[in-house]
Amino acid sequence: MSTENIGARNILVIHGPNLNLLGMREPEIYGCETLQDINKNLARIAEKVTSDIVFFQSNAESALIDRIQQAMSDGTDFIIINPAAYTHTSVAMRDALTAARLPFIEIHLSNIFSRETFRHHSYFSDMALGVISGLGSKGYELALEYALTVHR
Ligand code: DQA
Repeated sequence: MSTENIGARNILVIHGPNLNLLGMREPEIYGCETLQDINKNLARIAEKVTSDIVFFQSNAESALIDRIQQAMSDGTDFIIINPAAYTHTSVAMRDALTAARLPFIEIHLSNIFSRETFRHHSYFSDMALGVISGLGSKGYELALEYALTVHR
């Protein structure tokens, strides 16, 4: 990736429920990397172009909503979010993102469309700038690259 940062400067990465278990949770679906591995890699990429990146994981819907609301006034200019199981259930998180009016990319490690039908619907996709599903942890990297180099 080029070292020129013409994009977002304050990026928030949000991980939803059970993603704290990455590495030991169904590795055949979600891969062997831990959440810490993924975050470290993203931090290294953002550091190269001197963008700030912060990470937040919670298993609680209310904590995720509070963090999205916080992003409305803490200088965040871009969100990368894997809402995990709340993808398929949470009108409340959708409403928080609508209120925040911040651009976001929705990430899924697995291809949600090749799995059970209840995973095919997302409450977020129609509002997202883009959706990356099925590319494992590379999806987060690609979203970050977009935020850093393309997004204005
Ligand atoms: C997930 C897919 C969701 O359906 C699931 O509930 C998750 C993870 C993914 O990254 O593939 O917890 O968002």
